[in-house]
This record gives sequence, structure tokens and C-alpha cells, in this order.
Amino acid sequence: MKTITGINLILLVSSVLGEEVCRDVDSGWNICETDHTINRIEDKNAIFKTVLPVDLTSDTTVGENIFSTPKLEHLYLRFPYISKQNRSSAHSLTLLPNSFAGLPRLEKLNIENTNLRFTKGNTWASVGSLTKLHLRRCNLLEVPTGMLESMPSIEELTLEDNEITALHPHDFTPLKKLKELDVSSNKITTIAPGTFDGLNRLRELDLSFNAFPATPELLKGLSLLKELRLSKCFDDNGFQPHVFQEVPHLEKLQIAFNNITRLTPGMFDGLFSLRELSLYGNKIREVPTGVFERLRYVKEISLADNDIEKIVPGAFGFLELDNLILSLNRQLKTILTDTFRGLTVRRLSLAKCHITTLEPKAFNITRVTRMLDLTENFLTEVGTNDFAGLKTKDLDLSQNPIRKIAQDAFKDTDLKRLGLFGTYVKITDRAKLGLEETVEIMK
Ligand SMILES: *[C@@H]1O[C@H](CO)[C@@H](O)[C@H](O)[C@H]1NC(C)=O
Ligand SMILES: *[C@@H]1O[C@H](CO)[C@@H](O)[C@H](O)[C@H]1NC(C)=O
Ligand SMILES: *[C@@H]1O[C@H](CO)[C@@H](O)[C@H](O)[C@H]1NC(C)=O
Repeated sequence: MKTITGINLILLVSSVLGEEVCRDVDSGWNICETDHTINRIEDKNAIFKTVLPVDLTSDTTVGENIFSTPKLEHLYLRFPYISKQNRSSAHSLTLLPNSFAGLPRLEKLNIENTNLRFTKGNTWASVGSLTKLHLRRCNLLEVPTGMLESMPSIEELTLEDNEITALHPHDFTPLKKLKELDVSSNKITTIAPGTFDGLNRLRELDLSFNAFPATPELLKGLSLLKELRLSKCFDDNGFQPHVFQEVPHLEKLQIAFNNITRLTPGMFDGLFSLRELSLYGNKIREVPTGVFERLRYVKEISLADNDIEKIVPGAFGFLELDNLILSLNRQLKTILTDTFRGLTVRRLSLAKCHITTLEPKAFNITRVTRMLDLTENFLTEVGTNDFAGLKTKDLDLSQNPIRKIAQDAFKDTDLKRLGLFGTYVKITDRAKLGLEETVEIMK
């Protein structure tokens, strides 16, 4: 402790005097500063010559033409994490037009947790090799288009968790090669028409955690977009399905936490390539037919943590899914007869749903190739036909207050393993319950 205080004191005294202070930042890298300005970065036989992480703890300026490190590929300039509450007390990082000159191979620049300052306009020395720019928690109030002009090769841009309030046409025009854009967790209330025009290579877009209106032409220009995240991002008028009309090639879609209460038949029909759909954390009360069963290529559907009371039989039709996640729907008391009839799924989760009743043949002609998870519900008994017609590898009924399993309950069920941890049942006569000798009972 004493030594550290000593060093700090020397740093303080030296910087007061305007003398150069040098320090090792990582094995073999040396950084020299004068009056909070980095004026020299040297590679003193660094072990990793391509990666330089610089951790900063006070206001700093990155001087001009300071790099003579031609092999550097990844540069990280990081301050300690700042929460939303203490954003205003962030330390500043000032960049000058030639701060990143002399880095012919720089691919990735990552700046975090600072009050980023730089000259506006196109005065930047080109960083033409840069393909990934991450500016997280940098207190940016707008898209730094002027800076982006000098970075024409960028494919991946993250402006996550800044203070940006609007997106305008031309904000991203310098970035003709952009493939991934993340502007989540900003304060965006306006996305002007034409904002995404020209971004025809964009494949992934994250607009989550903002508050803009769901206008029909919101995503115009993004006809080849494959992944879209739209969680908790709309204003008081909420989500509107018409936003998808401009993005027919979506494969992954996340629209969580948007207070969606109703699923309307056909709402995803334009998205014929959809493979993964998450509607996590909304307020959906009913799963009708006509919404999912026509999505031919869909492999994963999450409706977890909604207010689903009713799943209309046939809502998932004859789909062949990897995952169907319906857990945490605490209003889902009853699973109706034939609900999952015809469905093939690797894993079907109905955990933590407060289910008290399975109507006879609720899983009639349902094939679960891995696990049907009904753990942590309120089932008190297993009736004769509850699982009739089900073919599964694992059936997990653990953590239910089950006291009774009816005679022949599993006679018409094909299963390999039965989970009964945390239930009150004792199985003494398998044959009576219709369980084959080979079924493994987990208790
Ligand atoms: C901001 O708050 C976090 C914890 O919430 C703390 O670790 C950090 O030191 C604070 N930063 C500043 C600059 O006050
Ligand atoms: C959802 O509704 C709650 C109140 O019911 C509100 O506090 C919240 O802001 C709403 N969220 C969105 C994304 O509209
Ligand atoms: C179960 O599936 C069979 C075969 O498709 C069908 O005939 C029957 O109506 C279904 N429902 C019930 C309750 O048996």
C-alpha cells in the first residue's frame, strides 16, 4: 500500500511539473504521458504485439502521431465502468485529428466508459484499416459521422449505451461496408425516414432500449437484414407489426419487453425465412392459431415470461422445432387437449407456469426428442390420459406437489426417463402405472 501511494505521489508531482511519466501497461508495452497527454507509446519487446489494452483512470488526451507500432491490430482505451447514474462524473478522453495516425494494421478500436471529446467534422487522419469500432458508454449525444468518414472500412459499429437522441439520414453514409450496427441503450426518440438508406450490406441491427415510434418505413433500406433486436425500444404507442414489411429476409428476431398483449394471426407471415423468434417478457395473454404454424423454417420460439392463459390447440401446428420455450407464464393453469398435437420439438419448456391441470391427451401425437420440462408447476396428480400420445426422451415432473399417479398413467406414453425429484410419489409397481422396466426414474 505504501509503495502504491509513493508511486502515485511521484506521478502527481511529476505531472504537476510537466515532466514525462512512463509506465508499463501490459507485458512489454510502455506508455509515456506529460500533463495527462499520452505522447509516446512504445513496444519494448511486447509479448503480444498486435493487442494493446490501456486502462485509464484520469482525464486523458491521446496525443498526435504517438504510435510507432505498425503491428498493432487491436487497441483498447478503457476507463472503469460507469453506471447510468454517475455518467456525468466520467473522466474525459480527448482525441485529436492525428491521434490514430501510424497504425496501418489497426482493425479494432474499443473505447469505453468515458466522456469522449473530439473535433467535429472531417479532420481525421484516415484509419482505413479499421473494421470494428466500439464506443460504449462514451457520453455521445449523436452519431460521430465526421469521425466515421475516416473509417470507410468499418463492418461492425457499436454505439451502445450512449446518450444519442436521434438518428438522421446520412449519419451512417460513410460506412458502405457496414454489416453490424448496435445503437442499443441510447435515448433515441426519432429515427428519421431514410436513416438506413444505402446500408445494403447490413446484416445485424440492434435498436433495443430506446423509445422511438414504430413507423411503417422505420427499417426502409435494410431489405437484406438477417438479425434484428427490438427489445423495449418503442414509444408509448408500442410495437406495430408493420415495421417488418421492409425486412423480409430476417432470420433472427427479438422483440422482448415491449408490452405486447395480443398476437394477431399472420403478423409474422411476411418473414418467411425466420428461424429464431423471441417474444420474451411481453404481456401476451393468448396464443392463437395462425401466428406460428405457418413459419416453415422456424426452429426456436420463446414466449417465456408473458401472461399466457390459453394456448389454442394447434397453435404450433406441425412445426419441427429445436426449442419451444413457454416457461414463466404464471397464468397458464390448464393445458388443453390436443394443444401440441403434431408438433416435433427437441426441447419443450413449460417450467414455472403454475399449471394445475393437464387435460387428457394434452400432448397427443407430440414428439419431444429431448425433454419435456414441466418442473416447478402445481400439478398434484398424473391422470390416466394426461400424457397419452406423447413420445419423449425425458419427461421431467420434478418440483410439483404430485401425490398420486393413476393406474396406466403412462400406458400410451413412450419415454426413457421420468423426473420426479421433489414430488411426494413413491413408485413401487411400475407395471401398474404402465411404465416399462427400462424407464429410468429420477427421484
Ligand atoms: C460509478 O459507479 C460505479 C458503481 O456503480 C463505480 O464502480 C465507479 O467507480 C463510479 N465511477 C465514477 C467515475 O464515479
Ligand atoms: C409497459 O407498461 C408499463 C406499465 O404497465 C410501463 O411502465 C412501461 O414503460 C411500458 N413499457 C414499454 C416498453 O412500453
Ligand atoms: C389424438 O390424435 C389422434 C390421431 O391424430 C386423433 O384421431 C384424435 O382425435 C386426437 N385427440 C384425442 C383427444 O384423441
